[in-house]
Amino acid sequence: MIKDLLSRNQTWSEQRRAENSDYFENLSRLQQPEYLWIGCSDSRVPANVITGLEPGEVFVHRNVANLVHPTDLNMLSVVEYAVNQLNVKHIIVCGHYGCGGVRASVGGQRLGLIDHWLEPIREVADQQFRCLECGSWTDGELDKLCEASIISQVQRLARTPTMQAAWAAGKEVAIHGWVYGLKDGLLSDLCCTVRQIAD
Ligand code: CO
Repeated sequence: MIKDLLSRNQTWSEQRRAENSDYFENLSRLQQPEYLWIGCSDSRVPANVITGLEPGEVFVHRNVANLVHPTDLNMLSVVEYAVNQLNVKHIIVCGHYGCGGVRASVGGQRLGLIDHWLEPIREVADQQFRCLECGSWTDGELDKLCEASIISQVQRLARTPTMQAAWAAGKEVAIHGWVYGLKDGLLSDLCCTVRQIAD
């Protein structure tokens, strides 16, 4: 029931106030997150929950399959604000195994607008794995494609004029690629961190 959400919110708010009467007062003054999270919209991968971060500690952008489109004004605005105004120190591009977007990208079906959105994953599949017409993908292969796509998105983000300008201006911000396992709830670092202009 949708009304339950409102009553749960009341309970949560009361609990926070009981622990610290200034909790919301303090949070409402400013946010100083050190992290920007770019993750998948999947409901099973909530940034704050899986990293144990509190409200105010992570700035969040999510889209289907955690992709970086260089013309996505929404994502670029989030990145620009996070880097230039909030001075985040780390950007985490986080994907997850079992991602429906990754599976759909090589599924061979025309689904509509999402086909256009998922094109960067098809590009990675085609360039690093095999031709898209070469049969179905096993779960293990999809996991590998998922990891390769995350690494590719880190590099795409590093090449955006937004990030290049930030680094040229001396901002110390690193972009990391992580993957999350739905089956064990664990995050892994894909060791593809970029701290400067990629090329
Ligand atoms: Co996903």
